[in-house]
Amino acid sequence: MKLEDIKKIAVVGAGDMGHGIAEVALLAGYKVALRDVEQRFVDKGLQRIGESLARLARKKRVSEEDRREMMGKIETFIDLGEAVKDADFVIEAVPEVMDIKKRVFLELDKLAPNDALLASNSSNMSITEIASVTSRPEKVVGMHFFNPAVVMKLVEVIKGDETSEETMQLTLDLATRMNKLPVRVEKDSVGFIYNRIGAPGLILLGAIVDRGIATPEEIDARLKHMGMPMGPYELMDYVGLDIVYHSSLYVAERLSAEYGPPEWLQEKIEAGDLGKKTGKGIYDWSRGRPAIDLSRAKEDFDPTDLIAIQVNEATKLLEEGVTKNPDDIDKVMIHGGRAAFGPFQLARGIGYDKLARRCEELAREYGVEAFRPTETLKKGNI
Ligand code: 3HC
Repeated sequence: MKLEDIKKIAVVGAGDMGHGIAEVALLAGYKVALRDVEQRFVDKGLQRIGESLARLARKKRVSEEDRREMMGKIETFIDLGEAVKDADFVIEAVPEVMDIKKRVFLELDKLAPNDALLASNSSNMSITEIASVTSRPEKVVGMHFFNPAVVMKLVEVIKGDETSEETMQLTLDLATRMNKLPVRVEKDSVGFIYNRIGAPGLILLGAIVDRGIATPEEIDARLKHMGMPMGPYELMDYVGLDIVYHSSLYVAERLSAEYGPPEWLQEKIEAGDLGKKTGKGIYDWSRGRPAIDLSRAKEDFDPTDLIAIQVNEATKLLEEGVTKNPDDIDKVMIHGGRAAFGPFQLARGIGYDKLARRCEELAREYGVEAFRPTETLKKGNI
């Protein structure tokens, strides 16, 4: 299949990510089939696409005529077979639970045309394992968008063990055609690039709060003060605490128990406080985005610690061959999180020696092996 052969894209799952991906496909001119398991979910997804396109039209990013045309190019479905029967490219965006993903791909393999490519928007799960339930693993690929999909430029394109080069290239081309910035992830490894680099941050941030060094708001205020669009706790609420929870369970199973969800996160999940989507999480979202008081920025929390362990984790990706290109890692962190600089750009400014020493101290202070500096970090020169 060639890029020009893709006329219709089916998006399976109409939630935060699914509706955003469907909107991105509409903006690129594709016909879209949006599917979810209940009418109210597809209705909500369609409503959100309508609101977002109206926002873009108000800002004159799309014309009123194009907006109307796009709304006419999307159809919604409850029946999976109906949604994907004539799709050329299918993007799955269902909950981050491996059994659910596998069930969906088993069905997709039966119901989608034989030559259709099947992509998963999973944020950290094995594409190889998802593909293993299909009869076409060479046509299964990771296509990880970032939230909100319509705003964030990055798409990680992940090669499963059996994904063909043709599938990779077509997915990279499609992402570019969707006005995104795709980055190749060469090895199907837990968390891919963005979420793997973020994973030790959750350990450190949790420990800082548990030890009473700073509160979530004091940490967010400090990082927002430095120019981040959202602090890490606000961002967790924004993407959904259930997603962060399932993701850290998955990383803990695959890498080490240290990456498991902190206690406070389990408590939030049990209470049903999932962040923005339920109106309450770490913050109160019932009246919109929380107003974080920047004057509460706490000096006791040193953001360099977060940078040190993230650069260290990034060096593990180079050692493991997840990507060979440090510039791609910087690109992922800049465009996946709207950061001003990538980890290696920061490391060159701060100095690899200093970061490696700090990682050694953090590993000792917190008793966390995941913070231990790699040989690549100690050598520096990246
Ligand atoms: N539709 C259309 N436009 C939208 C939009 C939407 N749904 N949401 C935001 N925008 C536009 C706004 O119109 C605005 O455009 P402008 O600059 O031309 O005025 C721009 O985006 C920024 O929005 P605002 O400044 O008005 O602030 P908002 O509160 O609306 O935006 C935000 C919030 C864009 C989410 C911003 O806070 C941000 O960039 N946060 C960081 C997001 C991030 O890091 N995402 C990655 C999460 S991790 C992930 O997804 C991985 C997964 O695996 C978990």
